[in-house]
Amino acid sequence: MPITPAVVEAINNQIQAEFQSAYQYLAMSAWFHENNLPGCAHWMNIQWQEETAHAMKLFGYVHDRGGAVTLQAITAPEHTYASPLDVFRAVREHEAWITSRITELYDIAVAHRDLPLQIMLQWFISEQVEEEAVVDSIIERLQMIGGDGPSIYLLDRELGGRPGGDAVHSSTAEQH
Ligand SMILES: [Fe+2]
Ligand SMILES: [Fe+2]
Repeated sequence: MPITPAVVEAINNQIQAEFQSAYQYLAMSAWFHENNLPGCAHWMNIQWQEETAHAMKLFGYVHDRGGAVTLQAITAPEHTYASPLDVFRAVREHEAWITSRITELYDIAVAHRDLPLQIMLQWFISEQVEEEAVVDSIIERLQMIGGDGPSIYLLDRELGGRPGGDAVHSSTAEQH
C-alpha cells in the first residue's frame, strides 16, 4: 500500500522524538549513577533501550512501506534534577508529551486514510498506556516513602531488577 510523503515526514518526526526520549533517559541513568542509585540507573538504561527499540520499529516500518528514513538532529538532554522524585516526574511529563505526539500521528494516518499505519500505531498507543501506568506507580511509591532513608534503598533494589533484553551495562554496579 503506497505511503504519502506527508505521512513519511510525520513518521520521521516521531523517529526523532523516540531517539530524543532514549537520549533523555540515558541522561537520567547517568544522574542516578552520580547519585548512587544503581537500580534506578539500570531502570533508566532499560528505558533507553526501549525507546531506541521504538525508534527502530518506526525506522523498519518506513522501509517496509517503501518510504525513506531521514534522521534528524537530537538535542542535548536535560541533566539537572533535584531528587529521584523530580526525575520520575520529568519521565511522566515526557511520556505524556510522547502520547500526544502518537495521537497526532494517528490523526495524520486517519486524515490520509492510511489504514496500515493506523493498525501499526495501535501497538504504540497500548505501549503508552502501559508506560504511563508504570511511571505513575513509581511516583506514587516515591511520594509514599518521601525520597530518602532505607526505603529508597529498597525501591532502588526493586527497580534494579527490571528485566531487559541484552542490557548494555554502563557499570558493574548495574548488573543484577
Ligand atoms: Fe517510545
Ligand atoms: Fe516511552
